[in-house]
Amino acid sequence: MQIRVVSARPWEVSADLLVIPLSGEPAFADELGEIDRRSGGELRTLHGLGELRTKAYCAALGAPGELPVGRLMTVWAGKAETFDRETARRVAASAIRRLAGRSADSVAIWLGPLTKGLGGEEIAAAEQAARGVVEGGFEPKTIYREDSDAAPPKLDELILVASPGSPEAPLRAAAERGRIIGEGANIARRLANRSGNDVTPVVLAEEACAIAEAHGLACDVIDEHRAAELGMGMFLAVGKGSDNPPRMIVLRSGDEGAKDSLGRRLALIGKGVCFDSGGISIKPAAHMEEMKMDKTGACTVIAAIATVSRLAPGLPLIAVAPAVENMPGSHSSRPGDIVRALNGQWVDIINTDAEGRLILGDAMTYAEQLGATHLVDVATLTGAVARALGNMVSGAFANPDPWWDEVAAAASRAGERFWRLPLVPDYAPEMESVYGDLVNSGAAEGSLVRSGMFLDRFHTVPWAHLDIAGTAYYTKRYPFAARGACGVAHATLVELALAGRA
Ligand code: BES
Ligand code: MN
Ligand code: ZN
Repeated sequence: MQIRVVSARPWEVSADLLVIPLSGEPAFADELGEIDRRSGGELRTLHGLGELRTKAYCAALGAPGELPVGRLMTVWAGKAETFDRETARRVAASAIRRLAGRSADSVAIWLGPLTKGLGGEEIAAAEQAARGVVEGGFEPKTIYREDSDAAPPKLDELILVASPGSPEAPLRAAAERGRIIGEGANIARRLANRSGNDVTPVVLAEEACAIAEAHGLACDVIDEHRAAELGMGMFLAVGKGSDNPPRMIVLRSGDEGAKDSLGRRLALIGKGVCFDSGGISIKPAAHMEEMKMDKTGACTVIAAIATVSRLAPGLPLIAVAPAVENMPGSHSSRPGDIVRALNGQWVDIINTDAEGRLILGDAMTYAEQLGATHLVDVATLTGAVARALGNMVSGAFANPDPWWDEVAAAASRAGERFWRLPLVPDYAPEMESVYGDLVNSGAAEGSLVRSGMFLDRFHTVPWAHLDIAGTAYYTKRYPFAARGACGVAHATLVELALAGRA
């Protein structure tokens, strides 16, 4: 797909399709009025009937009249007050998804309304539009059945229509950036969507090394024997219940010991539970198939370091992805088993289904041993976060506060939503083990907070935790995305790393 930026009036651009975003109270006095006049006045009529704003992001196909385009599509973007970068991205994504089963070689998106919605940030509008087109084009059905026609058409050309007089070069650069970030998200989504019988820890490690190879990253895979020598007791306790052995996947960019321009060596840590049955503390059958998605954090950090290497080659960065399969069996950890973590703490495994924090804790310690100065982990960690925040806002914890400010700033550049939850020292006594240092699970009340507090015990440098259990994949239909993994947090991690670019 070529991306072209044209600073022109929307009615001057020829394409198979022209996308017209609408939000707030569309004023037909301005350029929209001119588009309407030239297309035969149908837009105003349909708008008057309420047809163009009946459903968020729902696109309508209109007649082109005397415009030099094959057809028109309006996309309703909701109220002006709630318009943000995510909205801009969804507009582009829903337009492209609406084309599934139809043919279009070139699509033009009028940036005007997106720019207006973003308070004049035309650069951001271009980036999010391109990213939205790439992410909207993702279709999981093509992962196994390549001949499926469920996917939107592959475009030859995306034309972004900027306002007349806007310099095109910086907009083109922004659009390319959006494309690269979208492609990275799609790499994560493709991997996460693949099934448990397909992507075992060994396969995830192979895929990670192939991605590393293609992007000039160093790849080190720690098997169960080396993990035992190193003392990764929590990681091994989860992995040992499965015939599919665990792998600690480590990808690196930049010179050994190098820091970025902010003096950081950032490590991205991703939960890679290729299937989470719960282990001996086995889960109920309903929705257990969703637990193949419990590796999404790992897929996200593997994709994110690859994306960063495309946008800022050589930037010092570490990705650590502990990959395991959490299964019941005679080799599994039992409730009540006590293991020694890599950082020396003795952990009492009360519930084998609280496995994510066990593998993440050792991965965080290992990242610090590799010289990481700042940590961010991303994990489908708790059902509780989905209950608390639903499927459109991810949870977060961080310590200390200034590091959260940087993560939050990265999230807002990326156009992603996280809600920070508190670490509550009053709850620490509830986490104490009778026999060891701490338990991995306890009462339901406060369990979300304690999931963060558990991880808080496994770092000595600034750390943030992103809980994407509610947001990692869609189980409902939306106009702007396929069901399955949605790539959440990838762009935030990329923005956070890129902040350290010289
Ligand atoms: N992988 C699950 C969390 C999850 C739930 C992810 C729903 C995606 C959707 C995690 O390992 C888990 O089982 N968490 C337990 C923790 C509890 C035992 C303390 C949970 O949330 O019930
Ligand atoms: Mn679990
Ligand atoms: Zn899990």
